[in-house]
Amino acid sequence: MHFAVVSCSLDPDSRSRLLARRAHERLASRGVLADWLDLVEHPLPLCDGGACYGDPNARLVKERLRAARGILLATPIYNFDASSAAKNLIELTGKDVWADKVAGFLCAAGGQGSYMSIMALANSLMLDFRTLILPRFVYATGRDFADGEIASESIRERIDRLADDLVRFTAALSATP
Ligand SMILES: Cc1cc2nc3c(=O)[nH]c(=O)nc-3n(C[C@H](O)[C@H](O)[C@H](O)COP(=O)(O)O)c2cc1C
Repeated sequence: MHFAVVSCSLDPDSRSRLLARRAHERLASRGVLADWLDLVEHPLPLCDGGACYGDPNARLVKERLRAARGILLATPIYNFDASSAAKNLIELTGKDVWADKVAGFLCAAGGQGSYMSIMALANSLMLDFRTLILPRFVYATGRDFADGEIASESIRERIDRLADDLVRFTAALSATP
């Protein structure tokens, strides 16, 4: 089975990228095949509902995500929502990528007050594409990081559990009765 972890921050010093890397390492340590996609390395056009779908980067990212059965999205929280880069990725990739797949979230935020912010994106994936959303997500704030690393043991454990759940839920969904 094939998975993907996507880092949706465009900040070179991103904290959510650290969360994503840890999740990717966890999947790799279990011998799971997981693609790594960093939106910094694949500049995408803004979705215009037309010409954007022919953009070479948009096509490449879509093809790579289409191959994944389960996807983890790491995103900054901006203005009580996922980043516009994360939302744009979903607009560009759409149903072909997200329908009937398992998805989970890793969020980096400035403070605890935005804890529920990922729900708008989660709801849209569920309602629009029937994406199965993992009922556990990672939410880390500035105090969970130090010296460019994840300092919080509980956040590291939560990431590992999220990665494990991605595999577990996806396998269960794929199992024939
Ligand atoms: C434009 C902007 C809007 C933000 N809005 C919020 C917010 O609504 N809630 C919050 O907790 N943090 C907010 N932050 C703080 C970021 O979530 C925080 O810096 C986080 O580490 C960004 O993720 P990244 O490091 O992966 O890029 C905002 C930051 C920026 C630049």
